Amino acid sequence: MNAEIYYFSGSGNSLAVARDLAAKRMGKLISIPSLMNKDHILPDADVIGIVFPVYYASLGQSGIPLIVERFIGKLENIGSRYLFAVCTHGGAAGATIENLSRSIHARGGQLAGGFTVKMSNPYSVGEKLRYLFLHKALEANIQADNEKQRELFAHWKKKLELIDSYIEARKTGTFETRSAGGKFILAPFLAMQTAAALSRYRKLSKMPGHSLEDLIPFADRSFRTDERCNGCGICARVCPVHNIELVDTRPVWQQACETCNACFQWCPTQAIHGEIVEFEKRYHHPDVKLSDMLME
Ligand SMILES: Cc1cc2nc3c(=O)[nH]c(=O)nc-3n(C[C@H](O)[C@H](O)[C@H](O)COP(=O)(O)O)c2cc1C
Ligand code: SF4
Ligand code: SF4
Repeated sequence: MNAEIYYFSGSGNSLAVARDLAAKRMGKLISIPSLMNKDHILPDADVIGIVFPVYYASLGQSGIPLIVERFIGKLENIGSRYLFAVCTHGGAAGATIENLSRSIHARGGQLAGGFTVKMSNPYSVGEKLRYLFLHKALEANIQADNEKQRELFAHWKKKLELIDSYIEARKTGTFETRSAGGKFILAPFLAMQTAAALSRYRKLSKMPGHSLEDLIPFADRSFRTDERCNGCGICARVCPVHNIELVDTRPVWQQACETCNACFQWCPTQAIHGEIVEFEKRYHHPDVKLSDMLME
């Protein structure tokens, strides 16, 4: 086996990136959620890639999704492997790669390189403020942002070549992370954003007095459906952690959420709403199909 590419993905960006890397390296594509019932995960290839979306780096968190942290915690026997990581993001990857390197080191491994890839266009601060204070509608669909999206995808294809030659040469030492100066300048803003996020998530999860990490699984308490829900059950089948049960053909969230937004993004009738996705554009990667995302 040449390579194993482990991935986690909600709207398909990280899956598309992982798929490109697996094709380049003639590697095996392995879904991280599909392994989470195992106590230990023993990679089989010499080259190991980990691909995932950045979560909450802009709110002063590690940037690593909870499920990916749990995955790293199960990795065994990685000391002799060539490990690299790629995280997809919306413009604020922060110190995610650096934090991942630390987590891998704690498992006895060494991250040879870590790369960030901007893949989505979140709402700008201006758009959010216009929505909040002037009640202007938010643009509902990122697919309308086609030009910007095409640029991001084209940029990724170029970067794929660079990463591929980096791996081919077994290089080490590239860690795309926030600079020391950036960390210093951003520290007060991150502290403010973290405090605001904590208060928001305490409200969303209806639980006071916990850390953001503890609140994330409960943030699904803000999800709800409207009359467009036809009971198809796709939300339950696409959820990477089986956090949705269908009760009388309606989804009921079980408070073990990863906040990946797959249910929201892949619902065919756009029936899912809630404060947690208030600022999320409806989007999934155009080259990823629903069938690629289903958990069975
Ligand atoms: C819960 C959540 C938190 C996120 N936090 C960040 C962030 O801190 N910084 C950032 O640049 N993008 C952030 N994003 C955007 C994702 O990293 C980005 O859209 C990514 O490409 C999604 O990958 P996926 O389609 O594989 O799920 C966040 C997305 C979600 C759902
Ligand atoms: S995917 Fe959408 S329409 Fe289907 S059951 Fe879930 S919420 Fe309802
Ligand atoms: S409930 Fe929705 S947001 Fe939460 S983990 Fe499942 S698919 Fe992702």
